Amino acid sequence: GVGLRTYDPGYTNTSAVISRISYIDGDRGILRYRGFPIEELAEQNYFEVAFLVLYGDLPSRPQLALFTDAVMRHCALPSSVEAVVAALPHDTHPMAVLLTGLAALSGAHPEQNPALAGEGVYKSRAVQDKQIARLVGKISTLAALAYHKSTGRVATRPNQRLGFAENFLFMLDANGVPNYRPNPRLSRALEIMFVLHMEHEMNCSTAAARHLASSGVDVYTAIAGAVGALYGPLHGGANEAVLRMLARIGSADNIPAFIEGVKAKREKLFGFGHRVYKNFDPRAVIIRKDYALADEYFVSRKLYPNVDFYSGLVYRAMGFPPQFFTVLFAIPRVVGYCAHWRESLVDPDTKIIRPQQDYRGVWLRHYEPLAARA
Ligand code: SDX
Repeated sequence: GVGLRTYDPGYTNTSAVISRISYIDGDRGILRYRGFPIEELAEQNYFEVAFLVLYGDLPSRPQLALFTDAVMRHCALPSSVEAVVAALPHDTHPMAVLLTGLAALSGAHPEQNPALAGEGVYKSRAVQDKQIARLVGKISTLAALAYHKSTGRVATRPNQRLGFAENFLFMLDANGVPNYRPNPRLSRALEIMFVLHMEHEMNCSTAAARHLASSGVDVYTAIAGAVGALYGPLHGGANEAVLRMLARIGSADNIPAFIEGVKAKREKLFGFGHRVYKNFDPRAVIIRKDYALADEYFVSRKLYPNVDFYSGLVYRAMGFPPQFFTVLFAIPRVVGYCAHWRESLVDPDTKIIRPQQDYRGVWLRHYEPLAARA
């Protein structure tokens, strides 16, 4: 009934996840990977930045060569996983293909059995490194399969001699052409976008990865859960939602009416706002040079564009279909998920994550038999 006393715990939940991987300052628009400003990393080699995010320091030349080779050697998919993806309907959303492939990969490697994790199989650095190299490589190949689900064409098998983004475009576009090489400017631009999306502290999907990892589950399952969270239009799915929103707005003179809808909470301004950045998202600043027009209207209203606003525009300019944008977010973000998976493994203080709940429900009442109820 009305007026029942609700529960007031009299405290706020201050428990935070301890991490050393990335740092964000939302007021000053700062993002650093392992202490390095994103502005200094954005144009570096994908494998070099991935090694930094995963292992904490920039690699030496031999370390970079070994890591690059390990990832590229493991980027092919087991035929069983290719068969699972092939069995999906042709109009399956690419993110759903990624989710299916990751779950299938979990089963494809018997040592992935979570019960083994309980026996400490992941405590071995060699096992961690192998799982991570497999995932960082295979997510890109899985994404290429996801892309071609809708085209009906077959993705070209990875070319281990190419760069990370270059190999990804090669798998999408080679299509059997001998000695095909992707446009170097496209490869370069895509590699910068991948580095900018690699890691971002305790965002929704990384928090999901930490939750699953803390239960001791295998890394593929942990990252499938994270990719599921990234799929959401309020999170990684925003870049696709931006393009759909811009199509609905149509032209600049429709913006005021659309904004009225936002104010009335009938519309959501996809690509704007952020839980942490309360002014410019530093990743958006790096990308936005060519899109100043797009934000002059909105910035004056203290709702700033986030990275997803610009990444959608960049990926459309590169010729990707909107439903593929979030897959392009997931590919590099798997590096951040793996770094958090590994960090939760090696941290001796890691416990299963179970956030405190702030119960505000009815405190206590007793059962009344049906006959006594109206
Ligand atoms: C990513 O966390 C990360 O790090 C994420 C990410 C990463 O790298 O992992 O940066 C990637 O997910 C970027 C965000 C992409 N999402 C979108 O572009 C979707 C549109 N954005 C909004 O849904 C919103 O800004 C969120 C979800 C991103 C943040 O929402 P919050 O936490 O509610 O933001 P807030 O507390 O600052 O909001 C204050 C008010 C709220 O209104 P009230 O409930 O107080 O009435 O502003 C409103 C919000 O509803 N608001 C918006 C809005 N952003 C905030 N209203 C309309 N459109 C928006 N874009």
